[in-house]
Amino acid sequence: MTRTVEIAPTFEDWQAAARTLLHDGVPPAEVRWRETARAEQPSLLTEPSAPPPRGGARVPRQFLDLARNAAAAADPARWQILYEVLWRLVHEDHELLEAEGDPTMRRLKSLAKREGEGAAQFVPPGAGLAELRAAAARCTGCELYRHATQTVFGRGPADARIVFVGEQPGDQEDRKGAPFVGPAGDVFDRAMTEVGLDRTRVYVTNAVKHFKFVEKGKRRIHQTPGMSELTACRPWLEAELALIKPGVLVCLGATAAHAVFGADFRLMKDRGRFAPTRWADKTIATLHPSAVLRGEDETQQARLYGILLEDLRLIAGV
Ligand code: URA
Ligand code: SF4
Repeated sequence: MTRTVEIAPTFEDWQAAARTLLHDGVPPAEVRWRETARAEQPSLLTEPSAPPPRGGARVPRQFLDLARNAAAAADPARWQILYEVLWRLVHEDHELLEAEGDPTMRRLKSLAKREGEGAAQFVPPGAGLAELRAAAARCTGCELYRHATQTVFGRGPADARIVFVGEQPGDQEDRKGAPFVGPAGDVFDRAMTEVGLDRTRVYVTNAVKHFKFVEKGKRRIHQTPGMSELTACRPWLEAELALIKPGVLVCLGATAAHAVFGADFRLMKDRGRFAPTRWADKTIATLHPSAVLRGEDETQQARLYGILLEDLRLIAGV
């Protein structure tokens, strides 16, 4: 008899279900795994409905690491493969993880490609925005996910005409899980309102989806993402832009401008002018709202804010 097991597509849900199945002695051939709708907020789904039996079979730590990485991949067959390996580890072959020639092990290892290989392997093909967001929540494409609180994916409607791209989430964004909701977000909101742009109708995202920082005492100090993180994270931005197909794409600051226009782009010289790119007929760069806050004194801050406003007015006018 075949059992259909529904799980949210997370390692924790799979693990809870697999423990129960193993405990009940259900062999892999009798299990059909089905993913329930990918939730917007995976954190709400981590509570299993029934407490899984604990103890029982002991599996090597190495398997759990592999399983955790494989669970984050996009292939719907991963749950089945994971359970098959777990079953065989427990019932048939304790050395299975070492079996180089075993086809299922080979598949598992390729699913569990290590971090640092970029986000592409986590992007589900043909996904909508909600599905992309849920998949990005499990991304381990570079090392930044290790210390950050959560993935901060873009926010806004899928049919937005204007997309804004910042650099990476800051401290507040990392805690709240949404882009531009800290001090830079306040500057952004004020400027948007002032030029008559409705933030709820635009899509706002970042070039890198995890907060990069160093700890100084209790504070977490922002670090500019490097080329390797930008490259690793780029598939998410590509997927967002391919789906939304904005008419206007706005780079906030030099990092986003370099990601979109290339390394030769000089923000203060080249900002404030529309140019076509493969993502949008009208692509433009302006100051990062944080740059306004970094102005030395009030006069300087007012001047920088004025530049941001000037560019946003241009954008509001198209
Ligand atoms: N700075 C950014 O570039 N993005 C955010 O989301 C917040 C601050
Ligand atoms: Fe994945 Fe981007 Fe986060 Fe790196 S920064 S783990 S590539 S989402």
